[in-house]
Amino acid sequence: MQEHRRSYVPALGFHWLTRMYDPVVAVLLKEEKFKRALVNQAGLKPGHRVLDLGCGTGSLTIMLKRACPTATVVGLDGDPAVLAIARAKIAAADVHVELQEGLAFAPPFAPASFDRVVSSLVFHHLTTEDKRRSLARVRELLRPGGELHITDWGQAQNPLMRLAFLSVQALDGFRTTTDNVRGRLISFMQEAGFTEVAETHRAMTPLGTLSRYRAIAPT
Ligand SMILES: C[S@@+](CC[C@H](N)C(=O)[O-])C[C@H]1O[C@@H](n2cnc3c(N)ncnc32)[C@H](O)[C@@H]1O
Repeated sequence: MQEHRRSYVPALGFHWLTRMYDPVVAVLLKEEKFKRALVNQAGLKPGHRVLDLGCGTGSLTIMLKRACPTATVVGLDGDPAVLAIARAKIAAADVHVELQEGLAFAPPFAPASFDRVVSSLVFHHLTTEDKRRSLARVRELLRPGGELHITDWGQAQNPLMRLAFLSVQALDGFRTTTDNVRGRLISFMQEAGFTEVAETHRAMTPLGTLSRYRAIAPT
């Protein structure tokens, strides 16, 4: 359990801030808009099995299910406290999705068991090694031709965005966030064996550059 506790950074960097996560993200990041764009990019089809990796409080998980009610949507997160919030939101939203506690680099699922893996604001919580091994596991979880869609902090577009991102780094730590601001997620996805890896969108926010990515599991 001790190793499990050390293996993830909570939603806002500190456990005591987790309750504040939803209002902070809604106001500072136009959450509905950027998550809607991620859901649209994921292009869910009826019957798909979809994993929300690092689902947090479940907002994206609910949006994925509502976008495609016949898809099976599963949320995975390492933090039992954030999953408790997600459970309450999912019950209030009256949707059926499955939540599991587990770590991104040791997901408790069979190989080739998902058509889509979608992840929002999670990879900047992972060390370089954990980013690499999580992406390798995600590739194994996807069926051939399955797709990974990520929104996370990306390479700063300009000095102002680099400065703004210092606020995220102060909260979540420099060790896990530096890869993001250097734009290294793309090369990590390529190293994990994904094809057609691309940054599909980049937006300026009060907290830095938010990037959207797409990658395909080889057939
Ligand atoms: C900033 S929150 C994002 C939550 C949600 N995806 C969203 O966009 O609102 C990051 C989430 O990643 C989870 N997390 C961090 N490291 C993790 C790991 N190694 N395995 C699984 N979840 C992890 C945290 O518990 C937290 O819920």
